[in-house]
Amino acid sequence: MIRFDDVTKTYLRGTRPALTNLDIEFERGDFVFLVGASGSGKSTLMRLVLKETAPTSGSVYVAGKDLSRVPSWKVPSLRREIGMVFQDFRLLPTKTAYQNIEFALAVIGTPRKQVRRLVPEMLEMVGLADKGRRLPHELSGGEQQRVAIARAYVNRPTILLADEPTGNLDPATSEGILELLAEINGQGATVVMATHDQGAVDRMSRRVVELVDGHVVRDEEHGTYESTAPDSEISGAAETADGETDTSVHPEERETATVARAHGSRAAAAVDDVEDEELVDEAEDAPNDLDDAFDEELDDTFGDEAPGAEAPEGPEAAAHEEEAR
Ligand SMILES: Nc1ncnc2c1ncn2[C@@H]1O[C@H](COP(=O)(O)OP(=O)(O)O)[C@@H](O)[C@H]1O
Ligand SMILES: [Mg+2]
Repeated sequence: MIRFDDVTKTYLRGTRPALTNLDIEFERGDFVFLVGASGSGKSTLMRLVLKETAPTSGSVYVAGKDLSRVPSWKVPSLRREIGMVFQDFRLLPTKTAYQNIEFALAVIGTPRKQVRRLVPEMLEMVGLADKGRRLPHELSGGEQQRVAIARAYVNRPTILLADEPTGNLDPATSEGILELLAEINGQGATVVMATHDQGAVDRMSRRVVELVDGHVVRDEEHGTYESTAPDSEISGAAETADGETDTSVHPEERETATVARAHGSRAAAAVDDVEDEELVDEAEDAPNDLDDAFDEELDDTFGDEAPGAEAPEGPEAAAHEEEAR
């Protein structure tokens, strides 16, 4: 679903790379915690997936497509495959909870009838059925994050990236947010969550990828926040700090239990949860080759009509389509 092939990202020439020789794969249906100190490269990894910035060397693949070959005019379609959630929620402050979610549908031209069904459905899913009319400042932090998640997921993207989504929340509230992300993952979405939330990581026992100074130093199938392995068993940044080799655990070596759960269910619809202006800024530094295969893939996914109109695979998606009538 997401693959980094020997990716190095250096923002400014002559400075230490934000990511060095990154080789990692997130499979469809994975739930991955990305841990590591501030500045270790977590947000950069996510920005590369969104094609908000381009690798200095190496390749990033999303849904089998090399992002360097996705032309800039196709980037919005790419981003509709990806929901994004931030630490600071990033809701539109003058719009209600309902309108914030509605906005994600409106920008991609979803028919009004469908919007009127999908928004209440999402409010219900995130436990805010009775708070649709509230403005963000009339909601608690946890509730605002629920709205942000609803907005990110309303079009059933295949990937959900969450960059420290519980960073501003108390532990009890965080727990609810994690349950929600786990539910979304249970519906087949690949979830990648950057976090410093030790309690959440330990409780969930999911895949943990740890970054130190832009190197993967740990990749465990059922990990905890702090490494429990003896140093000798941790493939390390220490040895690879010169950038020669990356000894991070090879994706094939991992169990694929979580992948099986995804059972090929692919959501049909799209989301544009992030304000476009924000994303367009830095999208220009990658080459603009046309990639017909990617076009077809996107067309297959989204069709000519409104999101949700296309027949997807899997029971989840089938239900979604059913409701679209
Ligand atoms: N836009 C940018 N320009 C220059 N350097 C950046 C930029 N964004 C991040 N960096 C640098 O890249 C490194 C990784 O940052 P980041 O990916 O934000 O880490 P994290 O999310 O783990 O805190 C840091 O050294 C940071 O200063
Ligand atoms: Mg960050």
